[in-house]
Amino acid sequence: MPVKNRFAELQSEIVAWRHDLHKHPELMYETHRTSAFVAEKLAEFGCDEITPGIGRTGVVGVIKGKTDTKGRVIGLRADMDALPIHEATGLDYASTVPGAMHACGHDGHTAMLLGAGKYLSETRNFDGTVVLIFQPAEEGGAGGKAMCDDGMMERWNIQEVYGLHNMPGIPVGEFATRPGALMASSDEFVIDVTGVGGHAATPHDTIDTTLVASQIVVSLHSIVSRNVDPLKRVVLTVGTFSTDSTASNVIAHTAKLEGTVRTLDSEYRTEAEGWVRRVAQNTAAAFGAKAEVIWRSGYPVTVNTEQETAYAVEAARAVAATVDAETPPIMPSEDFSYMLEERPGAYIFLGNGDTEMCHHPAYVFDDDAIPLGCSWFAELAERRMPAV
Ligand code: NI
Repeated sequence: MPVKNRFAELQSEIVAWRHDLHKHPELMYETHRTSAFVAEKLAEFGCDEITPGIGRTGVVGVIKGKTDTKGRVIGLRADMDALPIHEATGLDYASTVPGAMHACGHDGHTAMLLGAGKYLSETRNFDGTVVLIFQPAEEGGAGGKAMCDDGMMERWNIQEVYGLHNMPGIPVGEFATRPGALMASSDEFVIDVTGVGGHAATPHDTIDTTLVASQIVVSLHSIVSRNVDPLKRVVLTVGTFSTDSTASNVIAHTAKLEGTVRTLDSEYRTEAEGWVRRVAQNTAAAFGAKAEVIWRSGYPVTVNTEQETAYAVEAARAVAATVDAETPPIMPSEDFSYMLEERPGAYIFLGNGDTEMCHHPAYVFDDDAIPLGCSWFAELAERRMPAV
């Protein structure tokens, strides 16, 4: 099945938008130029309503169909922010901002949703309303949550939401998704351990914080292997281990551990917090030391609802020859999860071919994927709200 012809015609224009965005990456909520670019394009297309400033720098665009007999509204979402990475692609349209790069392809997502917006504004061949959602701060800033917290879903009466992400390793021209958990939750912890520092030659006068923290690291690794159902997916990683000792002959007084817990089963998020606290505090106590645990809840599990995943797959099959409707879930996390907590919907991966993985300084978004992504967004709107 082909992509929509209009997107083959529009491809060079959409690619030019993408390269412009790529040259000017912006981090987190600082997507001022990008948001202005998006709003300007939406105005050019004749979008019925353009609202900036949702979720700080997010932009919402509304396109009304030829008719609206049932009050149907679907939301299509793209992310706009870049990463604090120094680009090493050597592309002629590489980042002009040192230390910032569109290394996750959000420039491609934004350009594709704009392309779909242009087509849908031209054709309006649907019965209802399309809400285009452009969010900032996907990379750790919870911009999607900020837009939800601003009342976006209620204000525009959004009934379903859909989003996509390019995926290196999947051939260009293919899609992949699954019903249920697609991406993991991501919570972080910091453990501050305090013992009694001293001279390396007199350990009996100290409580060796390095030893205590080491025991905590080892014991934390019993959580996944001994507390979690072996058929469930949870990963716990201690990423940093530092102490205040500055010399080989000094026993540390304090130590700090930082780590993350990711899971595809939401029930384990709260349990994991309790387990980490118990292990850290009681292990420290066993040695006469103290451990203080700071828990930082991050993105929820990205859960595709069953019916909407079927719609997303149907739309993908209309534009691509190969669609994997049962792809294995992955353990990175995604801010779109907050929107899926508020409304039924689905997230889908769009093949980016044999490139470096996202977040790599030599990652390159494949422009050949653009007509597929645009067509998928447009197909969804037209299939979920068929013209009468
Ligand atoms: Ni991303």
